[in-house]
Amino acid sequence: MKFITGIAISALLCADAALAGVAANRGLARRLARRAGRRSAPFKNNTLHASVQSNWGGAILQGSGYSAASATVNVPTGGGGSSAAGTAWVGIDGDTCDSAILQTGIDWYGDGTYDAWYEWYPEFSADFSGIDISAGDQIAMSVVATSLTGGSATLENLTSGQKVTQNFSKVTAGSLCETSAEFIIEDFEECNENGSDCQFVPFASFSPAVKFSSASATQNGRTVSLSGAVLTEVEINNKDVTKCSVSGSTLTCSYV
Ligand SMILES: *[C@@H]1O[C@H](CO)[C@@H](O)[C@H](O)[C@H]1NC(C)=O
Ligand SMILES: *[C@@H]1O[C@H](CO)[C@@H](O)[C@H](O)[C@H]1NC(C)=O
Ligand SMILES: *[C@@H]1O[C@H](CO)[C@@H](O)[C@H](O)[C@H]1NC(C)=O
Ligand SMILES: *[C@@H]1O[C@H](CO)[C@@H](O)[C@H](O)[C@H]1NC(C)=O
Repeated sequence: MKFITGIAISALLCADAALAGVAANRGLARRLARRAGRRSAPFKNNTLHASVQSNWGGAILQGSGYSAASATVNVPTGGGGSSAAGTAWVGIDGDTCDSAILQTGIDWYGDGTYDAWYEWYPEFSADFSGIDISAGDQIAMSVVATSLTGGSATLENLTSGQKVTQNFSKVTAGSLCETSAEFIIEDFEECNENGSDCQFVPFASFSPAVKFSSASATQNGRTVSLSGAVLTEVEINNKDVTKCSVSGSTLTCSYV
C-alpha cells in the first residue's frame, strides 16, 4: 500500500462504512469531527513535558528475528464519553524499530462503540469491514511478516468463526526490523491528514480487565512465550492507568 493521503483515507473509510454499517459510520463521523487519521504509534516512554508519559501498557518481547505475534483478547466496555478511546492490539516492531510496525487490534470508545483495524505504521490504520465487535467477544488477533515489507493481519471472532484478513505486499512506507513483538493496550494518536500534529486521544476506561490469552510470538521460526517479556504501563499525568501482569501464556491488563 502507498501512504494513505487524507483524501484516500476518507474514501476508504466511506467504502468501509458502506460495507460495515452503523458501527463504521459512527467511527467515520467521530474521526471526521476530530482529526484526519487514527494511528497506533511506537512505544513512547517517559516523554518529557507531555501529559502522556507512556502510551503503552502490556508486554514487549525484545531481541531479533520476530516474525509473528498472536493472542486471543476479550472485548471490554469502554467508559468516559464519546471522545475517549483505547485500543488492544498485537504486533511486531513497535518498540525500537521506528521505520514500521505491523499490527492489528480493536478500539473501544467511551460511548460503547468499537472499531476493528489493521495498520502498517507509519500509515494510518484502516478499519476492517465485515466484523462487528461486541462487549464480551473473544477475538483472535495475529500478525505475520513474510518479509520485511510484506505479511498479513488477521482478526477472527471465535464465537462465530467470522474472520477478516489484510495482506500486505511490497510496502514502501517503511520496512520492518523484526526486533520486537508486543501485546499492548494503547492510548493511540489522531493526526492531521498529512500525518503531522498527532495528539493522544483522551484515554477511555475499560472493564473488565483485558486478557491476552494464548499469547505467543514467532522468533527465528520458533514459538516463544511471554516469559521473557518486559512489562510497561500506560502512564498519564505521572500516574499509571493500567496494571498489567503475566501468568503463563496470559497477559492481563486492568484499568486503574
Ligand atoms: C461474534 O459472533 C457472535 C455470535 O455470532 C456475535 O454475537 C458477535 O457480535 C460477533 N463478534 C464479532 C466481533 O464479530
Ligand atoms: C491473503 O493471502 C492469502 C495467502 O496468499 C490468501 O489465501 C488470501 O485470500 C488473501 N486474502 C486477501 C484478503 O487478500
Ligand atoms: C499538515 O496539515 C496541517 C493542517 O491540516 C497544516 O497546517 C500543515 O501545514 C501541514 N504540514 C505539512 C508539512 O504539509
Ligand atoms: C521505561 O523507562 C524507564 C525509565 O527510564 C525504564 O526503567 C523502563 O525499563 C522503561 N520501560 C520499558 C518497557 O522499556
